[in-house]
Amino acid sequence: MKLTYLMVVALVVLAVSGSGVLADELPVFSPSSLAVYDGRDGSPAYIAIDGYVYDVSSVFSDGTHAGFEAGREWTEEMAESGHGVAPLEGLEPIGVFVSLELTLEELSQFTGRDGNPAYVAVEGLIYDVTDSARWRGGMHNTYRAGNDLTEAIQGASPHGERVLANVPLIGVLVVEEEEE
Ligand code: HEM
Ligand code: HEM
Repeated sequence: MKLTYLMVVALVVLAVSGSGVLADELPVFSPSSLAVYDGRDGSPAYIAIDGYVYDVSSVFSDGTHAGFEAGREWTEEMAESGHGVAPLEGLEPIGVFVSLELTLEELSQFTGRDGNPAYVAVEGLIYDVTDSARWRGGMHNTYRAGNDLTEAIQGASPHGERVLANVPLIGVLVVEEEEE
């Protein structure tokens, strides 16, 4: 099976909704969408450090720097390097980074019951509602965690997407494609 990812959806959503999905209002990257920006063949070089994405094209020329490839998360490696995270001072992040990628089928396990965390998906992004008092037992006004609730939050809910700013953004939804 081959995985194809919904990164474009996530980016478009944030740009279009402007709904305070994130305080930062930055595009969201996950490992597979970050990998596109490997600094090769004219592509910019991005890296993820501690939850944020930086454009390091000027340092990662040819897509590498000190043996590290662009298009990946290097949080620990950078912290442990000779210069630590100092080079990032003054650099504005260009995106938010989440490491979790789940298919809809995988998401369905995160019901908030039987000891599982409670996750919900909206517009291709996954939020953790485990610790929300409004989502006890993975339920909220008849809706259940483990599902894509985009339509419900946009339609039936009185609050819309602004409440998503109150819960952690932890991942992106991905689609699993038939093998060709
Ligand atoms: C904005 C991003 C970065 C900038 C501007 C930057 C800049 C530099 C500079 C100027 C040096 C040579 C002088 C020195 O050691 O201070 C260097 C060396 C080094 N950097 Fe970075 N760096 C960046 C990101 C990273 C990252 C993400 C890592 C790890 C994943 C890393 C790992 C290293 C290592 C290991 C060396 C020593 C290289 C060697 O001597 O072989 N750097 N960096
Ligand atoms: C008829 C349907 C719904 C009703 C009546 C409802 C009602 C509420 C109310 C009254 C709150 C309190 C906070 C506020 O309004 O700002 C709340 C919070 C919230 N709701 Fe809903 N909701 C509905 C559907 C949904 C759906 C489909 C989602 C999908 C993700 C959702 C996600 C949330 C979240 C994440 C919070 C914030 C939780 C927190 O702050 O811990 N709601 N909802």
